Amino acid sequence: MTDKIQIPTPLAAHRSPPLKGRARVPGDKSISHRALLVGLLAVGKTSVEGLLEGDDVLATARACRQFGASVERTGEGAWRIFGVGIGSLFEPAESVDFGNSGTGVRLAMGVAAGHPIEVAFDGDASLRRRPMRRVLEPVTRMGAEILDAKEGTRLPVRLRGARDPIPIQYETRVPSAQVKSAVLLCGLAAPGETIVIEREATRDHTERMLRSFGAKVDVERHGEHGRRITLAGRPELRPQALRVPADPSSAAFPLVAALLVPGSDLVLDGLLANPLRTGLIETLKEMGASIEELDRREESCEPIVDLRVRHSPLRGVEVPASRAPSMIDEYPVLAVAASFAQGTTVMRGLSELRVKESDRLAAVAAGLAANGVVHEIVGDDLIVHGKGRVAGSGKVATHMDHRIAMSFLVMGLASEQPVAVDDAAFIATSFPGFTELMRKLGADLR
Ligand code: S3P
Repeated sequence: MTDKIQIPTPLAAHRSPPLKGRARVPGDKSISHRALLVGLLAVGKTSVEGLLEGDDVLATARACRQFGASVERTGEGAWRIFGVGIGSLFEPAESVDFGNSGTGVRLAMGVAAGHPIEVAFDGDASLRRRPMRRVLEPVTRMGAEILDAKEGTRLPVRLRGARDPIPIQYETRVPSAQVKSAVLLCGLAAPGETIVIEREATRDHTERMLRSFGAKVDVERHGEHGRRITLAGRPELRPQALRVPADPSSAAFPLVAALLVPGSDLVLDGLLANPLRTGLIETLKEMGASIEELDRREESCEPIVDLRVRHSPLRGVEVPASRAPSMIDEYPVLAVAASFAQGTTVMRGLSELRVKESDRLAAVAAGLAANGVVHEIVGDDLIVHGKGRVAGSGKVATHMDHRIAMSFLVMGLASEQPVAVDDAAFIATSFPGFTELMRKLGADLR
């Protein structure tokens, strides 16, 4: 583990003047990881524009080098990956360290599991606490072997990939795009069809990207909310020129901030509008948010929009559990929006929040409590009783979690007293430049 002994970077948000202007947040984290890893599996040069240069994705870029790709940065957000192709991965000489990134490590485990190589995977203290069994269980069914793991199948893990991976049909036990993607990425090296069935559809960037690289991926509906994905194994992936859209999970912070700070009027450019990622926008609109689509287009097989967001009074709503996969990373900032709403917001089915970069359910509840917001956790549901105003003055523990830090900083921009977070350093995992971008729009962060 290259756990940096980092000096915490405390930061506080103060009540701000109207947020105004136009901004483009950094590239989508999910798509950035996939661009690098699928690029690794295509022989030749894949070029990527708008890659997220956050710590999580940079860890995946380093991992791709350890697996044999040549990975070069040619300009801001501009990268080239010279991939080695399916079946030709190198065996890393040293442990592959994914830092804080669950997506990076789980997707890379899927890739490695389909190759006859031994790989040691590791990460920081937060990643070492997160469950890896959900990925290791299916890939061992495909022929990989766990040589070593910490108690509870946690990192560090040593994995021996399969010489002859077996295609399987796998029904995911939790709605997780990471698990689905790991199985599909391993299935690339297997002959025949690998099938993943999910009861709740999760983000489909892996499917879209594999298709754009030339793989055959068929998707059918499964039940009311699910999908059945069939991948034809051993495709010849053709390298691509990709452009990564702006990350809606990062845009969520300036977007909610604009809704909460009186007088705000913002435009957020080039946002990924994949319907499996837009649960927050749908929910905020139900709460009364003024969010207007200015332009819709398509880039690199994904829908894109520019959004205009204006300050809006919000009301409490009920968010069904079935919406969770399409906004799983946005609940902390939705809880902040709900704190400023009039009335009660019920967010159902949040068990997966307990196994993110931190136990986000507990971290959100503690942050709300510290700032005088009345709330309850009932089973896996979070209930926030909004009063239209938030007292603030709390100091929030971020637990190495970027989204907890950004969510409570957004709270402080509109609360009566400032809100402080104990450590803003982890924001760099997903949103480098967050503080500068927010300040440019008018946010008082210091
Ligand atoms: C991601 C999937 C989600 C999400 C994470 C990114 C992905 O995790 O929380 O930030 O890129 O596949 P799960 O698959 O664990 O739900």
